[in-house]
Amino acid sequence: MGLFIVFEGVEGSGKSTQSRELYRRLQKAELEAVLIREPGGTPTAEYVRDWLIGGHDISPLTELLLFSATRASLVESVIRPALSKGEIVVCDRYIYSTLAYQGYGRGMDMGAIDNLNGIATGGLEPELVVLLDLPPDIGFQRKRGGDPNDRFEREDLAFHQRVHEGYNALAANDPKRWLVLDASLPMESLASAIWDRVLEIQAER
Ligand code: TMP
Repeated sequence: MGLFIVFEGVEGSGKSTQSRELYRRLQKAELEAVLIREPGGTPTAEYVRDWLIGGHDISPLTELLLFSATRASLVESVIRPALSKGEIVVCDRYIYSTLAYQGYGRGMDMGAIDNLNGIATGGLEPELVVLLDLPPDIGFQRKRGGDPNDRFEREDLAFHQRVHEGYNALAANDPKRWLVLDASLPMESLASAIWDRVLEIQAER
């Protein structure tokens, strides 16, 4: 069985940079790895991603179901096959984004989200979740001049604050699985801390 690693964080936290850096290190170490992002990673999911981020006429329920649908497609056709070949899967966002954004951010029912997450993934959870923790106002500054059509970047600071608090609550509930790092640290120190944890998990298995 392979190893499943997820990156989470608010907009501008640097999780895409860090997931790419981890993938680069894995490749350099000649470990078989796959790098994917959510929503996305399959042709259908990439197609739906554009609408989820830039579309209009999307209610909170439609949004929740579309995130779950793209996740089901990614788990079925990319994540499970890679893990069963013994590969390391690095995923930029996963079920915790839905709990943080649709649950804490939009106030949708947590129990319903948990059920949908379970259905979409068949209960598949990662061995490690890296949370790049950053106060959302700083994330906003980092993203200034970002995409004005991005439905999530257009949300107000209070929404992103709820998302941020949600992430911290999720991490506090499962400290063994979550590695919480201060995203304002230099990129290289973050990359080394993540790399050390991955090696530690590999050594324990
Ligand atoms: P990205 O900015 O990391 O590419 O992610 C796209 C946006 O989608 C981001 O603003 C967070 C949002 N999102 C959710 O609201 N729920 C989810 O389940 C996922 C995967 C992403």
